[in-house]
Amino acid sequence: MSKFYITTPLYYVNADPHIGHAYTNIIGDCMARFKRLNGDDVFFLTGTDEHGEKIKESAQKSGQDIKSFIEEKVANFKSLWEKLNISYDHFIRTTYNTHIEVVKQAVVKLCDKGDIYKAKYLGFYCVSCESFWTEPQIKEAQGCPACARAVEEVSEENYFFRLSKYQDWLKNYLKDNPDFIKPKIRYNEVVGFLDNNALVDLCISRPKKRVSWGIDLPLDDDYVVYVWFDALLNYISAIGFSFDEDRFKTLWPADIHFIGKDILRQHAVFWPIILEALGIQLPGKIFAHGWWKAQDVKISKSRGNIVNPLELIEEVGADSLRYFLLREIPAGSDGNFSREALINRINNDLANDLGNLVYRTLNMAEKYCQGKVYPLSRQLPTEFKEPFLNLEEKYSEFMERQEFSLCLDGIFKFINVMNKYVENTKPWILWKDKKNNEIKYFLYSLLEGIRIAALYLFPFLPSTVNSIRKQLGIEAYPISLGDRMWGKEESFCTKKELPLFPRIDIEEPNFS
Ligand code: MSP
Repeated sequence: MSKFYITTPLYYVNADPHIGHAYTNIIGDCMARFKRLNGDDVFFLTGTDEHGEKIKESAQKSGQDIKSFIEEKVANFKSLWEKLNISYDHFIRTTYNTHIEVVKQAVVKLCDKGDIYKAKYLGFYCVSCESFWTEPQIKEAQGCPACARAVEEVSEENYFFRLSKYQDWLKNYLKDNPDFIKPKIRYNEVVGFLDNNALVDLCISRPKKRVSWGIDLPLDDDYVVYVWFDALLNYISAIGFSFDEDRFKTLWPADIHFIGKDILRQHAVFWPIILEALGIQLPGKIFAHGWWKAQDVKISKSRGNIVNPLELIEEVGADSLRYFLLREIPAGSDGNFSREALINRINNDLANDLGNLVYRTLNMAEKYCQGKVYPLSRQLPTEFKEPFLNLEEKYSEFMERQEFSLCLDGIFKFINVMNKYVENTKPWILWKDKKNNEIKYFLYSLLEGIRIAALYLFPFLPSTVNSIRKQLGIEAYPISLGDRMWGKEESFCTKKELPLFPRIDIEEPNFS
């Protein structure tokens, strides 16, 4: 059994979660469930980023005091994760004392090493992205290069971390580790950036007279720590860095950091350099997924086009939403969210293909065998061979490469071959002709196929798979990828329930 440490970004608590936040955590959860299915010892971390100007401003606007404002937002994130079945192992908050201590220690250590100095900062700041920008960057983008909003001109004394000192080291590291950033397009983006630009040292403080909501900078009482420097350190503070060394040694390095492509620079440039400067091993992989957009505009609160995941869960259920987000686009690409696409996916793939297969198979099992299916032979039907063997060979590869959509494509090919098998076999004729052994073989093949397809579907549709396993009468033993060989289950005693996915009327209110 090997350990596998997965992280998501820490979400800003300036507003309630939207579909974009839900997406990263669904991806993380899918990976965590796959790894557990594989027998690995998973540690799945998520949490909230609670300091900085943006959160303070939002609390002030809401008229609440900052602490109760944050508590309310944290509760909303946690409640969404529960509704979406996000199986995280720990929820880190940047306001935890243990985290605050780790951040302070990191600053002191870097300062002792000579990697921090004080200087005048002249540049620009985007409050929404909590990011510093240079004049040429602002001029070229005509606003914040990340979000296109207006930026503030800043002129203040600050503390800087010597990012530039590590530029060549990072370039070499990336050349030696071409799989460090995925997908490839993001790797190329970072390598290209480092080849064509000189890194500017990172400002790691904000004067308290401007930004008071943050971790006190241990070097100077007049400053707080810059929110990104604070937040990135969560990945080590959450697992005990410097206060629970055994735990830290067991879990670090993180095996995969899931992020959106909007925060690539912070994770693929700042973070590796901070770790290197602190003498800490680098994470295994940074996977940057694409954006969900609405009519080609990135979904975000400030653009006023948010899609509320709670309303969708209420209407279509958590598994259907998880399925859509993981199936509709490759994880590295952008996609447009639309209610129509969501409903079509649910009706076609989940209600028609998967739901019908399970419902009619269980129906036939009850009608023809009173739910008790004991076959004479457990041979894989010839028709199943291609999609079944393909999945056996490729499933783990797809999952390890975060090719979730391709993986689902393979599973649904298998499901549809089973649907065709029903149509081609015409069991009602076998029944009429009293061909009992053929009927048992036919039903066993379908039930065994559904059992294995469900195993593969577990990371995507956890509640649905639990229901399928109950209906197949196999819920008592733990689900494991080790049980995916054909013929493992000798017989089935089925217990049919209602169809898994009722069809949804397309004419409901528009969420996009
Ligand atoms: N607090 C920082 C992250 C610190 S991590 C040490 C932050 N927070 S955030 O609330 O803005 O959330 C950012 C993450 O939410 C993105 O990286 C991405 O994972 C997800 N998304 C936000 N909007 C999104 C879309 N429209 N589409 C897909 N994911 C998006 O940045």
